[in-house]
Amino acid sequence: MTETIAPHGGTLINRCASPDTVAELEERARSLPRLRLNERELSDLELLAIGGYSPLKGFMTRADYRRVVEDMHVADGVLWPLPVTLSASREELHGVQVGSEVALEDEAARVVALLQVEDIFEYDQEREAQQVYRTTEAAHPGVAAVYAQGEILLGGPVTVLHRRQHSTFLPYRLDPAESRRAFAERGWTRVVGFQTRNPVHRAHEYIQKCALEVVDGLFLHPLVGETKSDDIPADVRMRCYEVLLAGYYPADRVILGVNPAAMRYAGPREAVFHALLRKNYGCTHFIVGRDHAGVGNYYGTYDAQRIFDGIAADELGITPMFFDNTFYCRSCMSMASSKTCPHGVDDRVTLSGTQVRQMLQAGQIPPVEFSRPEVARILIEAATASASAATS
Ligand code: ADX
Repeated sequence: MTETIAPHGGTLINRCASPDTVAELEERARSLPRLRLNERELSDLELLAIGGYSPLKGFMTRADYRRVVEDMHVADGVLWPLPVTLSASREELHGVQVGSEVALEDEAARVVALLQVEDIFEYDQEREAQQVYRTTEAAHPGVAAVYAQGEILLGGPVTVLHRRQHSTFLPYRLDPAESRRAFAERGWTRVVGFQTRNPVHRAHEYIQKCALEVVDGLFLHPLVGETKSDDIPADVRMRCYEVLLAGYYPADRVILGVNPAAMRYAGPREAVFHALLRKNYGCTHFIVGRDHAGVGNYYGTYDAQRIFDGIAADELGITPMFFDNTFYCRSCMSMASSKTCPHGVDDRVTLSGTQVRQMLQAGQIPPVEFSRPEVARILIEAATASASAATS
């Protein structure tokens, strides 16, 4: 079996403690200061543990953080577009020193990892917002998350004692080593990865299948980490994928997995981040469509594609596949984009997110040209259930 593509930085990182050392590390943790991780930090810890963030081995030190914020590289020169940080308040850091260790605990106060503290530093949240998110507005959900952080960052490598105990999407929780093996077992050498945080619609299906026409396999990798509260929950989105795969995709060409990362809504920079993650999962290609990882009107429709112009192909490693805005055209009688369709906007079946939400809440199935009825039915059921839960 041959591996499809080298992980970012060359080696797939594994920061899980070997099972025979866990008891000893737990014992050591008893006397250490403790720090509670929030949901995003727990996602980041998981991705650090399994190599989803290769070559990162821990939370960023000042040198890595500064360079990532300013020019999208870690201190040793490897391309990396988003900060992966651990924050705390001054009070929480009482007694913590550079060179010491901190026990990291989950929401149930269980010690899940040790952090070797290499750095403790102040940072400028507004600068991070401007550089990474291209705005300092707190209305941006990614910026709001930065502003909600503690005022100090701690950096250093992590050793994970206990992986997160998931109860959802178990068949789809493939680690990078497992997805790589799955691709190799199928003999796929060219695999396209697809990031998504929204319910699957016909435009998604179209660009996935266009990409699949020219590679060996499709890795559908919906993000199931933290999203903003008005995004459709991951379990509903996963049910949509299950019915769609059962009816419309060749089983031997597609693998469905879940991406445990939290959504940042950082548009262009997050598109690069999403691509590098999928490279670590073994994808050779990555789809970037319209307003990838965008929110509101913070980014131009194709900003998340343009950012790749400034990145050398060998530095990125994975090949981005760009798609224009796609839609169903009544005259073409097919899915299309303005690259392939000569007709006017009046021929296009397009719906805004708000229009779709209103239709689903009213129990109306959107046009088949927009969404497969099987998918729409799941979304209507979920919308009705959450509306009745809200009123009861
Ligand atoms: S994202 O935040 O994960 O990017 P979403 O799930 O909506 O949001 O999009 C998944 C991928 O499909 C992204 O690459 C996005 O750019 C692309 N995409 C979504 N809708 C369209 C469309 N109508 N035309 C082209 N690309 C699209």
